[in-house]
Amino acid sequence: MTDDSGFCWIDFDNARGSTLLGHVDPGITEAVARAATGVAGSATGWSPYVDTVLERLHALCGGEAVGLFRSGTAALRAAALAVREATGRPLLLSCGYHGYDPMWYPSGTLLEPNADGVVDFYFDLGLLEELLGTPERVASVVVSPDHMHLSPDWYREVRRLCTRAGVVVVADEVKVGLRYGPTLSTAELLAPDVWAVAKGMANGHAVSAVGGPRALLRPLKEVSFTSFFEPTILAAADVTLRRVATGEPQQAVREAGERFLRHARKALADASLPVEIVGDGTFFQFVPASEELEEDFYRAADAEGLLFYEGDNQAVSAAFDDAVLTDAEQRFTRVCDRLSRHAGSGPVSEAARYRVAWNVMDGLREAERDREATEGWLARLLDD
Ligand SMILES: Cc1ncc(COP(=O)(O)O)c(C=O)c1O
Repeated sequence: MTDDSGFCWIDFDNARGSTLLGHVDPGITEAVARAATGVAGSATGWSPYVDTVLERLHALCGGEAVGLFRSGTAALRAAALAVREATGRPLLLSCGYHGYDPMWYPSGTLLEPNADGVVDFYFDLGLLEELLGTPERVASVVVSPDHMHLSPDWYREVRRLCTRAGVVVVADEVKVGLRYGPTLSTAELLAPDVWAVAKGMANGHAVSAVGGPRALLRPLKEVSFTSFFEPTILAAADVTLRRVATGEPQQAVREAGERFLRHARKALADASLPVEIVGDGTFFQFVPASEELEEDFYRAADAEGLLFYEGDNQAVSAAFDDAVLTDAEQRFTRVCDRLSRHAGSGPVSEAARYRVAWNVMDGLREAERDREATEGWLARLLDD
């Protein structure tokens, strides 16, 4: 990307992980431009894209019923409230970010629901188990999967606890869905009853989707909104879903990311800089030993034109070909050179790992801890 001053950036933010295929992908641009001429229908009513987009989503993610929305936030609110209405149970046990809607704000008191009936368990399995002690009050457990700070066992345990309690699982795959492969990232581990996807389905265009059993999503049957049939957005989704169904862009992105990571880890080690990197080529995150180093790290990256999503997850796109990767690697080496005053500092502490994980998950990373430690970390991190 080139800014107004002519300075060239390499984008690791990619609209917060939405532009999997890269900015201005020719196939998407062409389909959107064509739809804008009106040949693919108008915003007033049905067009063939509605059916192909829904069919593609159904084929990739399953679900007897699939609904479309405009943002991840809207999809999650609709899904969670539909399940609550369908089950007739009052509580939503939540972990992770589900959008800007105030309904998800934590109550401020551990294990207490907020005014919207949402209780945050911050990815802590001990807290979840306690909350599932009264399953007849729980409409669903709503999880935003993270594959940088949680292991497969974490999801298996959530599935086990929810099956035992007879509670519905909603996977908020707005960020990770269709990104790790041509389906939900937790399809096998969590086997969610209801899912939501967004960022992986339209390369940054404003659409999201919810799917699941008819019985749980029935309250969404009559949902409609002004821009539901808008054809340029559906065109972007149609092309993106066709491409991600092959699994090829995800694989290319994963490999490009892995190559960058190999270089970055070596450059950091060669420069004796205490910065860990968690995750893999699909999504990864820097874990600097101190906040001071973190600040200098992102300033140095800015100076070298590496556009990182500060403090959050980095996501390369399919536009990272050999030339871009080589350029990015050279820039990253220069970032490390700029940080020489931090050489030999560190090491990366548990506190640094918890803090960085909190930035991306709004919750606690997976680690051994008892109830006292959980409360201690929460007091510290919620206070920051
Ligand atoms: C897991 C998750 N859920 C929901 C949302 C909200 O999506 P949107 O920003 O499209 O409203 C996001 C956004 O980053 C997200 O990562």
